[in-house]
Amino acid sequence: MSRGTRPGFGYDGSMKRLSTLDEIPREGLKFTYFESRVEMGGILLRLPDGSLRAWKNECRHLPMELDSRAPHSLWDADGKKLVCNSHGAEFLPDSGLCTGGPCRGSHLRSLPLRVEDDTVYLDTAAMSSFLD
Ligand code: FES
Repeated sequence: MSRGTRPGFGYDGSMKRLSTLDEIPREGLKFTYFESRVEMGGILLRLPDGSLRAWKNECRHLPMELDSRAPHSLWDADGKKLVCNSHGAEFLPDSGLCTGGPCRGSHLRSLPLRVEDDTVYLDTAAMSSFLD
């Protein structure tokens, strides 16, 4: 597989480079990707146990990014749950489960990741099986 990237997109054909493991900020890394030619937002998290999660940055109540409204923060005041700034839905960072708010019981959409040589990629080739 080619490792070259398309200028401006960061793709190598089937994967998009997101970060090295050490460069993932504690509060997570926001990124963009294309879903059916539409630019979408994602959030890459490295959890305290070292495991990785990538969530589509979209509330399950309405099709809005979690931090699209003020105060534009992905996290609640304790920094323990992802929060939608629109109507206050809260999501567990490890499972994506909504534990409070208008979409309680639903889940954030997971995005597929691949790690190679300490670099984290969005596995765009596997996306269709992850998105519902
Ligand atoms: S749009 Fe997220 S809780 Fe309403």
